[in-house]
Amino acid sequence: MNKTIIITGGAGFIGSHVVRLFVNKYPDYNIINLDKLTYAGNLENLKDIDKKSNYEFVKADIVDQIAINKIFEKYKPDAVIHLAAESHVDRSISNPTEFIFTNIVGTINLLNAARTVWGSDTINKLFYHVSTDEVYGSLGKEGLFYETTAYDPKSPYSASKASSDHLVRAYNHTFNLPVVISNCSNNYGPNQFPEKLIPLAINNIKNMKPIPIYGKGENVRDWLYVVDHANAIDKIFHDGKIGETYNIGGNNEWQNIDLIHKLCEVMDKKLNRKQGTSESLITFVKDRAGHDLRYAIDSSKLKNELGWEPSLQFEQGIVLTVDWYLNNNKWLENVVSGDYKMYYEQMYTNRN
Ligand code: NAD
Ligand code: TYD
Repeated sequence: MNKTIIITGGAGFIGSHVVRLFVNKYPDYNIINLDKLTYAGNLENLKDIDKKSNYEFVKADIVDQIAINKIFEKYKPDAVIHLAAESHVDRSISNPTEFIFTNIVGTINLLNAARTVWGSDTINKLFYHVSTDEVYGSLGKEGLFYETTAYDPKSPYSASKASSDHLVRAYNHTFNLPVVISNCSNNYGPNQFPEKLIPLAINNIKNMKPIPIYGKGENVRDWLYVVDHANAIDKIFHDGKIGETYNIGGNNEWQNIDLIHKLCEVMDKKLNRKQGTSESLITFVKDRAGHDLRYAIDSSKLKNELGWEPSLQFEQGIVLTVDWYLNNNKWLENVVSGDYKMYYEQMYTNRN
């Protein structure tokens, strides 16, 4: 079936994998990538598909209601997959307000635009909100997050995402807007901005720079390969029930320090360095303020109801990830130096 889908944040890490999947897998869908291109947005991520006839990029800020309304009026989307966000916890500690604008005001602007353009005709329409497991707060050594776990966000980032989830549910309840939400655990894989733990550590190990480990490295995260997340989004987009929430997880918990040991081992092999070389770079630094101890997801609802499971073991995913960063040196260099911003200028200035 022909559909027009606006994917927000499509130039970011997870968004670019979702855009690629939908553009390639559904030639009958028109995919509109709506992105502001903040520091985290990089159109180089989509070089392989950006000439396809069912793909279009639109530069816009979701905080700008007027601009968003115009775009919705122009494209009359059948669906929205909303990924655009400020996504880094450390940045939310140094500049919380930016997170309120993008994650909360930006989300309500998109909800308003969808409501306006769809009116009461919401058959076959969908507002898919992509969220995080961090809204559930922090676990102790035991237990898992379920879809029914009470929200208890602890960082400005997770509080802003929790707020956006509540607004999405409120628009479903109050205005019958057809929505679905997924809450996913930590992603890793190609194209992740090197401010997050895994790509930051890969880049530092490559350059023989210290690997900063917050506190004692005891915090636990559940890691999912980004392509598996994109596949879960595809599944939920097509088969998920309106008004429902689905947890997405990798069933793959690692203490940060153990994960870094594993990464060091893989990197030493790939770089033909003596085993132990990378480990010597591990440096314990001051802990993050309010650092959540542990996240762990129960994704059995998604498995039982929609048949989704992660396809990759972490041991495979981490090798694929390291290979990607080592083979895409230019991407990494451009991101670190800021040169990636020129890609937009070259591709899109004076084009319209
Ligand atoms: P990212 O930071 O890599 O990308 C965010 C994208 O949103 C960028 O392309 C950026 O330019 C765009 N954006 C930011 N502000 C915008 C604005 N005001 N208007 C339009 N576009 C804007 O993020 P990511 O890691 O790919 O995360 C994508 C989504 O998935 C987020 O909603 C995040 O909360 C959620 N999520 C992320 C993870 C993870 O591990 N990274 C896990 C679960 C859920
Ligand atoms: P991060 O990738 O920022 O994701 P999140 O905070 O959303 O889980 O961090 C993953 C874990 O790694 C988290 O416990 C914080 C820790 N961490 C470090 O120890 N050092 C670092 O340099 C970074 C960026 C994160």
